[in-house]
Amino acid sequence: MKRLFMLGLMAGLSLQSIAAEPRSPLLDDKPAFIASLIEQMTLEEKIGQLRLISIGGDMPRERILDELKAGHIGGTFNTVTRHDNRPMQQAALRSRMKIPIFFAYDVVHGHRTIFPIGLGLASSWDLDTIASSGRVQAIEASADGLDMTFAPMVDISRDPRWGRTSEGFGEDPYLVSEIARTMVQAYQGQSPAAPDSVTASVKHFALYGAVEGGRDYNVVDMSPMRMHQDYLPPYQAAIDAGAGGVMVALNSINGVPASANTWLLQDLLRRDWGFDGVALSDHGAISELMRHGVAKDGREAAKLAIKAGIDMSMADSLYREELPGLVASGEVGIGEIDTAVREVLGAKYDMGLFHDPFRRIGLAKDDPVDVNAESRLHREAARAVARESIVLLENKGQTLPLQKRGTIALVGPLADSPVDMMGSWSAAGVAKQSVTLRQGLLDALGDKAVLRHARGANITDDPHMVEYLNFLNWDKPEVVQDSRSPETMVAEAVAMAKQADVIVATVGESRGMSHEASSRTSLQIPKSQQALLKALKKTGKPLVLVLMNGRPLDLNWAKANADAVVETWFSGTEGGHAIADVLFGDQNPAGKLPISFPRSVGQIPTYYNHLRVGRPYVEGKPGNYTSQYFEEPNGPLYPFGYGLSYTDFELSEVRLSSPSMPRGGGLEASVTLKNTGSRDGATVVQLYVRGEVASVIRPVKELKGFRKVFLKAGETREVRFKLEEQDLKFVNAQLERVAEPGVFEVQIGLDSEQVKRGQFTLL
Ligand code: NOJ
Repeated sequence: MKRLFMLGLMAGLSLQSIAAEPRSPLLDDKPAFIASLIEQMTLEEKIGQLRLISIGGDMPRERILDELKAGHIGGTFNTVTRHDNRPMQQAALRSRMKIPIFFAYDVVHGHRTIFPIGLGLASSWDLDTIASSGRVQAIEASADGLDMTFAPMVDISRDPRWGRTSEGFGEDPYLVSEIARTMVQAYQGQSPAAPDSVTASVKHFALYGAVEGGRDYNVVDMSPMRMHQDYLPPYQAAIDAGAGGVMVALNSINGVPASANTWLLQDLLRRDWGFDGVALSDHGAISELMRHGVAKDGREAAKLAIKAGIDMSMADSLYREELPGLVASGEVGIGEIDTAVREVLGAKYDMGLFHDPFRRIGLAKDDPVDVNAESRLHREAARAVARESIVLLENKGQTLPLQKRGTIALVGPLADSPVDMMGSWSAAGVAKQSVTLRQGLLDALGDKAVLRHARGANITDDPHMVEYLNFLNWDKPEVVQDSRSPETMVAEAVAMAKQADVIVATVGESRGMSHEASSRTSLQIPKSQQALLKALKKTGKPLVLVLMNGRPLDLNWAKANADAVVETWFSGTEGGHAIADVLFGDQNPAGKLPISFPRSVGQIPTYYNHLRVGRPYVEGKPGNYTSQYFEEPNGPLYPFGYGLSYTDFELSEVRLSSPSMPRGGGLEASVTLKNTGSRDGATVVQLYVRGEVASVIRPVKELKGFRKVFLKAGETREVRFKLEEQDLKFVNAQLERVAEPGVFEVQIGLDSEQVKRGQFTLL
């Protein structure tokens, strides 16, 4: 059989101890090159390309190298150094076809430098800031020999019980789509082939954030209209931005698991959206088709998955075991295998691996001596991003910013917990390199003030919860209990607080509480910490809550009792510095919530862009027979888009460039924003649209634009938004995107509730 000389064999390759071969004449013609490869591959080699293997999983390293040499592996994940990846790539290049593998990893909000979690990034409402985090992630990951990240995670979540809410960018289709596009572009840079780019594999396709009851891995049952209107746009935005991969979700959709869903993977993804990258299953998802009860055995599961369009099976042996027999019996056509192989090879081609398989691994002599060296971190960028991710929820009597003088009592189980600072999915981040709030305050204060610290409480005193959290996939137990009694710890904290000028209580969740498989039935801060807060409150000292958490919490007590409340999420490697910047006013907070905070768990789902009903609740006029719960008001405790500043902003009335919009035309909506306070600061001006009457029920409002604006104290600026017919489109009952003529209200505000209004007609 003709051998294809397909390796690029750039100058460096021979240094990787692989015999140099001439460059294939077809190398620069992607379709011809890949077709030619496929033509020469055996069935076994083809099936090998469809396997994505977890390193550190069941397969011993020696066996992995043998499988690579045999051409039985298409890609791997979970290694994070060039040193580890190099021998694997070398082994792959010793296979008959010499097809390189790719290396993937969950670089979700940081690789070595950890940035704020998804909800934190989204709280910046600043696409440049978000892009800067994505770019650093790509630079660091590619410098460690990685070619692909399993990100961005763009699942819309309106149910904070779901632990993975933390990873995503919130509840809103428009905001999440904008971020999805931004992240893909940041990861992939100029081209996914660039040595400092990683291929984005957007996940979890699709609708994973809508699992029933917020319980992870549960089913999703959703009307097509809602799907297309609200939940699917972010994935499509990522694909339109060129994402090279899609990770298919673990959930089912309307009775069919995503991993066996031909409508999802073929009709929608490939045909309608034109996706031509690689589709990966999530971990073990093909075997799970048996547990979903749609496949009677492994053979049927593999058949369903390949026919639906899963190109690569992640950490799942069924493709290897079952595809040969399925092809032999004719149940799976060789054409179906070839299609999957073409997509895998296409992704590798786009990563630049055929031109240079060592493009991101480099030469051994250039390997970092210490992969965790400080010099490899991007602390400045991490601090800048984290500062933008912090949301000021309460600030009574201008408690904040704090003075750098007197005595500060720092209390709480999260005040000095480096591992929690990083949040879940912290990739190759090293806990001891993250700056806790205690360290951040010490650095900010120097000798200007006294900082005292007491733990005050354990994260939780519930042994079952501790056991569960420590059972999650971490290297070592990370919820470490202080052995003193709760009473002793509280008493110590209270005694210290009484001697201080102000209390900073750092409370919330451990990072494992907002994670995969960490769904909750409650949104409360754990009881141990509540008891601490109540005791601190009794001291009468000013009480500042610094929250660390990965989901909206029930903050009723905090709102009523704390003097200031600062939502910091899990803010990453430089979190402690960034929070200190905000607490002392070196950074005027400008973050806004990307997700509503409900009043109670019973209100879920709580999201601002809900559909209208026939008997709407009217605030202040509870009345009977309207759509409400009778124990508490409708609406969130803190709305979508909300966040305070140390300065005040005022918005003028809305001005519209025209009372009507012609078909195919546009108009401009503008407001004047004034910083009426005494500090410089930024805020996010948000534009919402409400269609008054349509052929189907429309939401009460929908975000259609936002702008982060920095103004000096006293400064005024005109903020303009363009609106086009495109912005007025929605999904009708026939699932077409249409704009219908009629009256629209434009709402512009600094959150989704307090808005100024204007009106126009679409002709
Ligand atoms: C399972 C998770 O659902 C997914 O998000 C992740 O990318 C894979 N495991 C690989 O770690």
